[in-house]
Amino acid sequence: MRRRSILISTVVISCVYWVCESFMFFFLAPEANFIQHLLGPDRFNTLTRLLVLCLFAIFGSHIHYTARREQQAEETIRKSAAKSRSILESIEEGYFETDLGGRLTFASGPFVRMLAAGPIQVLGRHAAEFMAPESAERLRQVFDQVRSSGEVKRLSDCVVRDPQGGERRMELSLSLIALGEGEVAGFRGVARDVTERIFAEQERKKLELQLQAAQKMEAIGTLAGGIAHDFNNILMGIQGNASLLEMRLPEGHPGLEKVKNIEAYVESGTELSRQLLGFARRGRVDVRATDLNTLIEKTVGLFARTRKDIRVHFRLSPDLPAVEADRGQIEQVLMNLCVNAVQAMPEGGDLSLATEAVSLDETYSQPYQVKPGRYVKVSVTDTGVGIEKKNLSRIFEPFFTTKGMGRGTGLGLASAYGIIKGHGGHINVYSEVGRGTTFNFYLPASAQPADREKPARNPVIRRGEGTVLLVDDEETIVRIAGEMLRELGYTVIAARSGSEALEVFAARSKEIDAVLLDMIMPGMGGGELFDRLRAIDPEVKVLLASGFNLNGQAAEILARGCRGFIQKPFNLEQLSLKLAEIIPAGQAPGKPTAHPPPGP
Ligand SMILES: Nc1ncnc2c1ncn2[C@@H]1O[C@H](COP(=O)(O)OP(=O)(O)OP(=O)(O)O)[C@@H](O)[C@H]1O
Ligand SMILES: [Mg+2]
Repeated sequence: MRRRSILISTVVISCVYWVCESFMFFFLAPEANFIQHLLGPDRFNTLTRLLVLCLFAIFGSHIHYTARREQQAEETIRKSAAKSRSILESIEEGYFETDLGGRLTFASGPFVRMLAAGPIQVLGRHAAEFMAPESAERLRQVFDQVRSSGEVKRLSDCVVRDPQGGERRMELSLSLIALGEGEVAGFRGVARDVTERIFAEQERKKLELQLQAAQKMEAIGTLAGGIAHDFNNILMGIQGNASLLEMRLPEGHPGLEKVKNIEAYVESGTELSRQLLGFARRGRVDVRATDLNTLIEKTVGLFARTRKDIRVHFRLSPDLPAVEADRGQIEQVLMNLCVNAVQAMPEGGDLSLATEAVSLDETYSQPYQVKPGRYVKVSVTDTGVGIEKKNLSRIFEPFFTTKGMGRGTGLGLASAYGIIKGHGGHINVYSEVGRGTTFNFYLPASAQPADREKPARNPVIRRGEGTVLLVDDEETIVRIAGEMLRELGYTVIAARSGSEALEVFAARSKEIDAVLLDMIMPGMGGGELFDRLRAIDPEVKVLLASGFNLNGQAAEILARGCRGFIQKPFNLEQLSLKLAEIIPAGQAPGKPTAHPPPGP
């Protein structure tokens, strides 16, 4: 490059030189011979001219070289600027520059898009103008900090408002544009759009909280279930004794009234443990395709009659699908919700019940851990005092009450929660203090039409005969259930553990007509014992007893061939009916169907 420059410069300058010389010759000394004049009479002159020529050539080439260098540098700068711009346009992060007042002097394409504005709307405006007030204030403070410290500063979770009313979240990093020697031209910043990340984090936190709440409820459920189980055994003892006493006391005895009182207390104790069991989600006892509209009208109709200052409204969808539900339990949920609503309206008000069929998709159903699909939604709304925000997260906990000692046990919503969850559904609440509360519960819709209600039957005690093997690890139960069985006419063999029962059955299976078997026992539980009894006698008639409702485990045992299930605490009538189903009259003793005589 340099050699070419020298050559071109030499040629150009030589030309100029010869032109000058010629001019001089033609106009100043025409008599001289041009060639002679050019070469000169003396050699010294010629050398001087050549030297001057060379100097011209070097100077010219330097000028030419410098010009080319400048041209090349400009080209390089232009290319590098284009490259920087293309990088700024292609990266996700936005880049911007501002003057010292914070007004935008440059904004890359991605940054302009983050502000959801056009480049013309952006330049010349303060960056804070695009932010929500709180973020704008923080941004101004960060500008000041960067200016005073000269350090790079970050601003996280900046809320940017776009003209369409949308909202995006940004993270900014700001620094000074330094000109050297303490002089600054403004600020430069890099912005990252973190909207998606922040929303995903919020969603994750929400899910975590929901999971924690569900785990807490699960743990409390286990505890509540355990308490209810022991409580039921105690009630069983009281109920059994009361039943026997009632039978044995002669008509008109003054003690009979006391026995009735005891039974009434047992009844409320049973109700309490039923609520606890409901919360502990120990399964559903009697599941049938149910029309919730009918159930609601029947259950809530009561309120319309008892409190005249409460207006009850029904908005029941006419074409509601049925739900697979335990009617007793859903009635209990409705009662609990309505009692709460009524208690929240001491001065009277409106109680509304609404039903509708809804579809829950993945986005709704996932956080609440229910399957997506069709559901029946029931809403119970009151215009009462409402629930304070701090209490909202606790109302479904068992024993949480704001009603003071003796007025509420705090089990109403806990059992409603457990029952709805046990039905594969979901319950939630919306409330505003002073305005009212709405509880919504969702139950999976059934493909079956609703079953009709069976008419209620009259209570009867059916005596029987035969031998019953009574298996229970609780001494109270062995004693009281034994006495009840004897009262009903059965002979009783008692066993206090699974292994003892197995031994007895192995030795005396021919004598035994039925086994009354406790499901939960230490060591060999009811399920295992049932299988081993069946191994000895495949036709063994087992009535399963448990303090828990018919749950998954009991249902499995029933499916394996167990004859029936009775829930503790049971009274004489319930026990007599269950046994009569298992040992039909005239079939015991001798069990003709169990071991048919060998054929001819
Ligand atoms: N509709 C409602 N309006 C206002 N507060 C309510 C409503 N429903 C429930 N609550 C609040 O939730 C708490 C818990 O209700 P829950 O039904 O579990 O227990 P309780 O009504 O206090 O006692 P229990 O139902 O066992 O007699 C109540 O004490 C009350 O503070
Ligand atoms: Mg209540």
